[in-house]
Amino acid sequence: VSVASPCHLQINGKSYSADLPPSVTLLDLLRERLDLTGTKKGCDHGQCGACTVLVDGKRVKSCLILAVSIPDAEVTTIEGLAPDGHLHPMQQAFIDRDAFQCGYCTPGQIMSAVALLEEGHVHTREEIREFMSGNLCRCGAYNGIIDAIEQVLAQHQQDRA
Ligand code: FES
Ligand code: FES
Repeated sequence: VSVASPCHLQINGKSYSADLPPSVTLLDLLRERLDLTGTKKGCDHGQCGACTVLVDGKRVKSCLILAVSIPDAEVTTIEGLAPDGHLHPMQQAFIDRDAFQCGYCTPGQIMSAVALLEEGHVHTREEIREFMSGNLCRCGAYNGIIDAIEQVLAQHQQDRA
């Protein structure tokens, strides 16, 4: 017998309420119940970062979070970065810098990168590499990924100057 628990979230600016089995992860809620399949399932064990989304502005691995455990949280997925069809600067930078091959890791990389720049503690390429180390890329597109993030970081620094 599975017992359902109430789940209330804001997902990409829309309210979501349902009774869910407590074992449903945020990742499975997004992909399987809401058809938000931009968020990818790689390892399902917290090791690859493909499932990274923002919860209250912080990056999290959605395969490790139970949907019912974050009441009233604001969740942003890759779909939420370009709500009106205009690419987010980080998405554009990934295109400009050829920062993907198969693209499977890309939504997680982009969400992680957006949060990283919000966190505000990276200033160098080395720091970007270090703080992006939770997001793996089987295709080895790391140089392009770091280039893309560096490009947006430089824009941020210019805007602040
Ligand atoms: Fe979540 Fe790999 S699917 S970290
Ligand atoms: Fe293929 Fe990263 S682009 S896994």
